[in-house]
This record gives sequence, structure tokens and C-alpha cells, in this order.
Amino acid sequence: MKRPRPVVALYPGSFDPITHGHEDLARRALGVADRLIVAVAHNSTHDKHGLFTIQERVALIEEVFKDEERIEVKSFQGLLVDFAKAERAPLVVRGLRAVSDFEYELQMAQMNQELWPEIETIFLVPDVRYSFLSASLVREVARLGGDVSSLVSGPVLRQVKKKLKRK
Ligand code: PNS
Repeated sequence: MKRPRPVVALYPGSFDPITHGHEDLARRALGVADRLIVAVAHNSTHDKHGLFTIQERVALIEEVFKDEERIEVKSFQGLLVDFAKAERAPLVVRGLRAVSDFEYELQMAQMNQELWPEIETIFLVPDVRYSFLSASLVREVARLGGDVSSLVSGPVLRQVKKKLKRK
């Protein structure tokens, strides 16, 4: 009997840095996929003042998920659809924290569909505890000396502190 192929999903984003909200979403994604590729984009639609290099973000995500063997971390250049084709993973997972996320997410999902009709985007809802949380706010609060220890994992917190001391 032919066994069904494992479902591989992509979770793309900037992850600068990975937050508890991202972690929650990735773990939820494993409820619908057998494997998850967390995909750190070199090119984000959002123009941002970055804190970590792409390699540093990948290393931090790997550290956060080091006990989760179904999660793999990669980075990609260029279009998400091209990466999804190369990985043979036409299933994209994104989080919807609030209605305000919806317009941007719908636009991206439809553009990706235009570029590659086989791609599917599914939206997952993070725990309500993280509905206000974004990596850009974590960066801003940390840069201004605020406490982000409840928003990111230990290894991320240590690197955020180290990075900001060096700047
Ligand atoms: O965490 P972010 O910054 O909201 O994630 C946005 C991301 C990285 C998923 C999006 O900008 C993206 O897919 N970038 C890759 C380049 C691309 O394919 N752009 C067209 C998307 S419609």
C-alpha cells in the first residue's frame, strides 16, 4: 500500500528576532504538518531596521527549537514561491494576530498564488497572550532599555542584550 507523503509546511518571515509568538505558531503548525521549515527571508516586504543578521537569526531559531526534530531552519533569497518550489513545499503557514494583520496577509497570499497557483497559505491564530507581540516592538522596546524577558526565549534575550551593548 502506498503511504501518504508527509506534509511539509513552510513558515516564512523575518524573525528578527524569533519571539514567543513565533514559537507558539511554529508548534501549532506541527499540528497540521509533519515537518516544518522555518524560512528566514533575506528580502522582506516590510522595510525594517534589522537587529540580527540572517545567519544570527537562523542560529537563534535553531537554538530555540533544538529539541524539536520536526522543525528545520533555513534562509532564502528572492521570492518565497521559488523557495517553496525548490523545497517541494507548497504549503505556507502564517499567523494572524488581529484583524489588522489580515489585509497584508491576504495580499501576500494572493500575490504568491498569482506567481504560483499551486501554493496554499493557511493562517493560524497564536495564543491570545501573544496577540500584541511583534519582533519589531521587541526590538524597539529592547533598544530603548525596556524589559523583553517575557517575550523571547532565554538564548534570544541573551543575544539581544549582547547585541545592544555592542552597538
Ligand atoms: O515577518 P514578515 O517580515 O512579516 O515576513 C514577510 C515575508 C518574509 C514572509 C515576505 O516579505 C516574503 O515572503 N518575502 C520574500 C520575498 C517575496 O516573495 N516577496 C513577495 C511576497 S508577496
